[in-house]
Amino acid sequence: MAIPLPGTPVILDIGSAYTKIGFAGEPSPRFVFPTMTGKEKYKSVMVDVSARNTYIGSDAAKMRGVLKIKYPIDRGAIMDWDDYYEILNYCFYSLLRIPNLSEYPVLYTEQPFVQKETKEYIARVFFETHRVKSLIMIPTPILSIFSVGLTTGLVIESGDGITWICPIINGEIVDQAVQKLPLAGTDVNQYLKNLLMREGINIESSAVDEIIKDIKEKNCYFALDPDNPPKVKDSFSFAMPDGSNIKIPNYIFHEAPEVLFKPQLIGYTMNNIPEAIIASLQGIDEHYWSDLLSHIVISGGNVSYSGFEERLRAELNKILPQLGKIPKPKEKPLMENHKLKMQAREVAKKKQDTCPHCGVLVDLTDGKEFCPSCGGRVVLPELPTQPKATPKKVKKVNGKLFCPHCNKQIEDESSIFCPYCGKTLEPPSFEELPSEVIKKTKPAREFSGYYKSTDEVIRFYVPDNLHYAIFNGAAILGSLPSFQNLFVTHEQFMENSDVLYKDISEIF
Ligand SMILES: Nc1ncnc2c1ncn2[C@@H]1O[C@H](COP(=O)(O)OP(=O)(O)OP(=O)(O)O)[C@@H](O)[C@H]1O
Ligand SMILES: [Mg+2]
Repeated sequence: MAIPLPGTPVILDIGSAYTKIGFAGEPSPRFVFPTMTGKEKYKSVMVDVSARNTYIGSDAAKMRGVLKIKYPIDRGAIMDWDDYYEILNYCFYSLLRIPNLSEYPVLYTEQPFVQKETKEYIARVFFETHRVKSLIMIPTPILSIFSVGLTTGLVIESGDGITWICPIINGEIVDQAVQKLPLAGTDVNQYLKNLLMREGINIESSAVDEIIKDIKEKNCYFALDPDNPPKVKDSFSFAMPDGSNIKIPNYIFHEAPEVLFKPQLIGYTMNNIPEAIIASLQGIDEHYWSDLLSHIVISGGNVSYSGFEERLRAELNKILPQLGKIPKPKEKPLMENHKLKMQAREVAKKKQDTCPHCGVLVDLTDGKEFCPSCGGRVVLPELPTQPKATPKKVKKVNGKLFCPHCNKQIEDESSIFCPYCGKTLEPPSFEELPSEVIKKTKPAREFSGYYKSTDEVIRFYVPDNLHYAIFNGAAILGSLPSFQNLFVTHEQFMENSDVLYKDISEIF
């Protein structure tokens, strides 16, 4: 596949289990590989002259029997920097093979709340080792919500290591309400392994972790009511990589993912996903609850199980009443919708019309404006809808406002015309409110009453591909021209490293 034109952002989503990489504007990642490295265990085994020191991704997985395997990202955090560099090299030079990296910006996906030092260190690796053109680092929940075209909603993002419950309002994460649960895909693997062991199924292979993951991804699902699971045949035969078959009792497939709702099954005392949602909503003004609950976005490989959405809805309906009543936004009267539609629609030009003076039917296709019979005007002249002159800014002296044309004092600060000379005005700009104030303030919406049931408010937004939702959100965002101005160059970073904390909500 050809490399896109210089200037196209490269997207890197390096997760605890899978790395997804590609380019902005493309529908899916070009390469997806397990985030693992393998170093040779026994020097003498590696007789091949082309043998390398470090094997990455699927290469490492294939040769795992003779390699010491490592997973350099653990629960979203980089644990082994040397292996992390190897992974970056593999992405840029073995897979993407971009000859002139200095002409490509990089969109790097990161967890929310990465430490400043770590963030800056990663930026330096991109600028100083790989010499990329520019860089932007974006928290994954922002990309998840963007993958379904929203900028406000409650993101439930669950990968291999972490589940994030992340409320987002107008493209901005509500920091104080974010919940981070170290409960995700790897924990389902662990519980699945325990359940298999309890049934006497011990997988004797160096690739046991990959086999467990494979069994899970192909077969596990959520039962709506785990106490009354659907009736299916008692066991399922799973083909092992060596050609043998193992029989797995069917209950295991819906029991293993239950850890996401019952973490105590593997000895954890943390909140489960619905409890973490409640904790998150409790950290945010109740007037946002309906906006958030009616835009629940799920994302990440670990919510790909069939039945997840239905089960989460059922669990939320059980637990949400603990929050109290949920304020309901006032419904807009139908008239307002009509008005909007009428403004948006373009008026089709008439081909013929009746003369308002003498009643003769006049053909208007040749641009005629006057009636050929009585000479009266048939078509009214078009009035300009935009002011012709560029409006001048209103003058502000000692808190009073003055017309810039006639210098008379104006009372109404939102006026777009001077009431004395009639000339066009640009109202003065007002100082922006700090975001903390906006978050605490009641939204400028009208509320009337409360929802009768929680089921009435809950609405899910599910990306087409949950596993690649973060990548896809990044691919859409990265292709927006307004977004491309936000990438940071090495010079800008060197001048002030705070540029890495860009507020991208300005483009929404
Ligand atoms: N069809 C599926 N059914 C169930 N689980 C799946 C499915 N596909 C992927 N997974 C699981 O999802 C997890 C990987 O998801 P994802 O790629 O979103 O996480 P990651 O980015 O590697 O991890 P993190 O973001 O937590 O660092 C793994 O645990 C994987 O086994
Ligand atoms: Mg991830």
